[in-house]
Order: sequence, then structure tokens, then C-alpha cells
Amino acid sequence: MALPFSIEPLEGRLDFGAKVVGLKQEHLASDEVRKALVDLWIDKGVILFRGGESSRQMQVELSRVFGSPQEFPFKESRSEEMPELVNIKYSPEDGTAYEVNGEAIGGWIPWHTDMVYFSKLNRGGILRPHTLPQHGRGETGFADQISAYDRLPIALKERIENLHVVYTADLNYAHARFAGDVKIKWLQGAKSWTRIMNRIYQYPRVIHPMVYTQAETGRKVLNVSPGFADGIFEMGGPTGDALLAEVISYCVDSDKTYFHDWKMDDMVLWDNWRTLHCAAGTDPGDTRLMERTTIHGDYALGRDLDGNIDLPRFDA
Ligand SMILES: [Fe+2]
Repeated sequence: MALPFSIEPLEGRLDFGAKVVGLKQEHLASDEVRKALVDLWIDKGVILFRGGESSRQMQVELSRVFGSPQEFPFKESRSEEMPELVNIKYSPEDGTAYEVNGEAIGGWIPWHTDMVYFSKLNRGGILRPHTLPQHGRGETGFADQISAYDRLPIALKERIENLHVVYTADLNYAHARFAGDVKIKWLQGAKSWTRIMNRIYQYPRVIHPMVYTQAETGRKVLNVSPGFADGIFEMGGPTGDALLAEVISYCVDSDKTYFHDWKMDDMVLWDNWRTLHCAAGTDPGDTRLMERTTIHGDYALGRDLDGNIDLPRFDA
């Protein structure tokens, strides 16, 4: 059957990403449509939905095609109206801001995998704008970790094959050790950010393998998140840190990344098991509110490293 929407490349120069134009909620009732969307997602990693139906309900229903929407573990970030949605919000009165290379930026987030500081990695998410900044910016960056693995020299592939990276739920990105060649200074924290940060020592550190294989295709994924990374589990100290920094330099090569310039009613889905994303942030006087679903999953390769299981983990 012919699909009731069109599929285009996200950007011709990229080895990942697709654009789906004209998808409506009624189309999701079709098994063929759902299978085509899942196959496209597995193949391309990131899908922009544009020129179809867009609403919070559509965002949640579309997420169900790829898995079960779950409530985000940090209750402070959940939308009050729809618990399946996470608020990603910056406003001058209630927002987290950093000075990045000497420039104040609101809502800046380095390259990362969502929830990589937990042992269970969510399968993906769909992001949709609620309020876009008045003065431009506010883009979301995406990077593909299958092509990043392919770019690694063979000797580097061999060195990291059986290694793991340690991650910590420290949301203060001024502490990020592997966020790249940027100088980060913390300026202010949102109320929700401050409450979550109060609990960070209650969460165990976790480890994830540096390489894993995408089950559906057999392709290898460079499973490394620059944000939240502490170091290499098997190789603490400068040698491991240098190795991790070298590997990460292959992930976020600017020729290979995509920065999405949001229009209202866009929705972007990503595969959190094979892509990185980041937030470019906004002018500190501006306001931006995005809403994201969290599509449940567990690739079963993450491990809690330490921590007391009797302590409250999420909702204390
Ligand atoms: Fe994220």
C-alpha cells in the first residue's frame, strides 16, 4: 500500500535522519504505517515530523508507535497537565543558565544521551515546542553514533571494544569533564534543577558499555555520552580520560551533526540508543519551553555501580 505521507532526507549531507511530511493521527491506526515508521526510525535514528497534525495528544500517541511513554523519573520535570510529558524550560526568572566560552546562555545542554546516568536507558523521545525564543537560537543538535563508530580508526575500535564509561547524575554541566573544548561556568539554576541537585548523591553511579550492537540491524553503536561522563571504568586516571576524550571527538564532529531550527508544530523523534543530542540554548533574557515524551525501554547493558538500594531513588 502507498503510505499516506511522504519521506524525505533530513539533510542531504547526513548519513542519518529523515523527514516525514503530512502524518495525521488517523494514519496511526494502520499496521503498515506503524511498521513503516518504526523501520524508518531504526534505520535513520532521527525523524522530523512536519506538515501533518501536531498536538500534545498526537505527540503522545505517536510515541506509542515506538514504545510505551513513561513518566520521567525526576518528578520536578514532569508536565502538570500531562504526566507523559517532560518540561524542558528556560525563562529568566526560573531557568538554568551557564556562561559558555564567555557568553551567557539560558538552557544550554551539552551533547548527551537522555537518562544515561541511570542503568535503564529510555528508548527514545519526541520533542515538540510550546514556546520558542523571540530572538532566534533554541536549536536542538543531533549526532549519530552508528556513523561515529564507523569513523573510528580500527586501533581505537579495538581499544574500546570491552570498556565501559562511568556516568553520574550531576546536572551541573560546569562539572562536565568530557563536554568538549568549551569553558563552562554555572550562573543560575531553575527551581526544579535545584531540587534535583539536592538529591544527586542519592543516585548510584552507573556504567554503560562503550560499544554495543543495534539488535535490529547488527550495526555497532558508539555508546558514549559526553554529558554526564566521569571516565572509563576499567581505566581511571589520565590514560583513560585521554582515550575517552579522543573517542568523543569522533562523535560530535560539526560536519556530521544536525542542528534543528524549530518551527511551531514540528515534532522530532530520536532513538536514544544510537544518537546524541544537545541544546544550543537561548539569549538569557528570552523564554523557551519544549515538551518531550520519554519512550520506555531497557537495553539491559547498563549497571548500577554503587549506591544504597534502601535510599529513595527518584521521588524523595
Ligand atoms: Fe536530553
